[in-house]
Amino acid sequence: MVIQVGSLSDALPENQKGAQKDSSSSALMPLETWISPLSGGMPIHFGDGAAEKLPELLTTLAPDKLFVVSDPHVFDLYGAFLVQMLGPRFAPEVILVPEGENEKKMANLEMLCGELFDRGATKSSVVLNFGGGVVLNLGGLAASLVYRGIRFLHVPTTLMSQSDVIVSNKQGINFAGGKNRLGLFAVPQAAFCDPRFFATESPRPLRAALVEYCKNALLLGGAHYDNALAAFEAGDILSPRGLRRLLRYSLEQKFEIARLDPTERAFGLVLEYGHTVGHAVEFLSQGRLLHGEAVYHGIMVAGKLSNALGYFSDAEHARQKDLLGRLQGIPAIPADISVGQILQGAQKDNKKRDKGLAFILLEAIGKPRQNGTSVLTPVPEAALQQALLEYRDALL
Ligand SMILES: NC(=O)c1ccc[n+]([C@@H]2O[C@H](COP(=O)([O-])OP(=O)(O)OC[C@H]3O[C@@H](n4cnc5c(N)ncnc54)[C@H](O)[C@@H]3O)[C@@H](O)[C@H]2O)c1
Repeated sequence: MVIQVGSLSDALPENQKGAQKDSSSSALMPLETWISPLSGGMPIHFGDGAAEKLPELLTTLAPDKLFVVSDPHVFDLYGAFLVQMLGPRFAPEVILVPEGENEKKMANLEMLCGELFDRGATKSSVVLNFGGGVVLNLGGLAASLVYRGIRFLHVPTTLMSQSDVIVSNKQGINFAGGKNRLGLFAVPQAAFCDPRFFATESPRPLRAALVEYCKNALLLGGAHYDNALAAFEAGDILSPRGLRRLLRYSLEQKFEIARLDPTERAFGLVLEYGHTVGHAVEFLSQGRLLHGEAVYHGIMVAGKLSNALGYFSDAEHARQKDLLGRLQGIPAIPADISVGQILQGAQKDNKKRDKGLAFILLEAIGKPRQNGTSVLTPVPEAALQQALLEYRDALL
């Protein structure tokens, strides 16, 4: 069934209506529902019109109060559409958190939990998280803590959050100088991925989201790697049609990995490829690099490390570089961030074990290195330092 998209189109700024028109005609993505293979098996509704399925689920959930958690930018763009679509029956209490990665912090978690109690949340209430990954991670954590967990939904509005964040039950915040150091696993009631929201994203965050897509293609290999190369070669990757194709491919990738590890604690750790250095660089950049951009650098370093330690042949390493090379315009690591700082940051990685740093490494495209029963390989700090220095030098 395809839901008409007129009402969201009306909510878009004038200069975006053209892109929307394109997406609602030739490039329309029909609605589908897939059940997440992760523990809890939540439904993921995706396609043009997915947002309008919200009232149907809310009718079933019958909350005594509905809370919308969003940020001012997203709410300016789409708040009126959301409130109108929910109608008087589900008129929400709206709580806005300041936007941006630097706001994924304890003060905002505390503010959110406080607002939920002050405005009368009960165990029968529902929290609807409406925004990018920051809002989803923060709102998901707040909802999971209040009364030891009230029901929540995700309505992701960025390519990154639709294609990546929602196929994970991780909710969390940055803490004590590191990414995602406080958090828990909690299952949303459902997620609604509507690609019409991409129309207001600028090319930079869209490109940054492509990094996670490429990373998953490197981990899975085979048809996923070929599809990724073909997606770039088609030349329309950031068009409304290209983005919808990409959303579908990304969900396929994440589902394939999630099927192998529904708990996200064993094989699912491979998704962290590139994230040890990526998270350190992202945190140190203080908002100057987007998550995907920092992960791009992390993947480059992890590839170098896999090669230097003798696991990843030159030929396979070249295939990684070939795919990542298609990502044009990823900003460099800011010059004021030193190799020493990155090394220190990597020590705060949540994959670190008592014996030191542990990395996801590749043996080939589609073949993450297994270390006994684990996908984590201990890496000497000197080897990481060398890979970082060489990577840094090659960029200068
Ligand atoms: N497993 C997981 O939980 C997981 C996976 C990947 C990333 N993440 C987290 O997700 C976060 C990154 O998410 P993100 O890339 O969505 O960034 P974000 O949430 O910071 O949003 C980026 C910006 O885009 C704006 N925005 C949101 N929707 C928009 C739209 N439709 N049009 C225009 N602007 C819009 C926001 O206001 C914000 O300014 C990071 O904190 C990362 O750690 C979590």
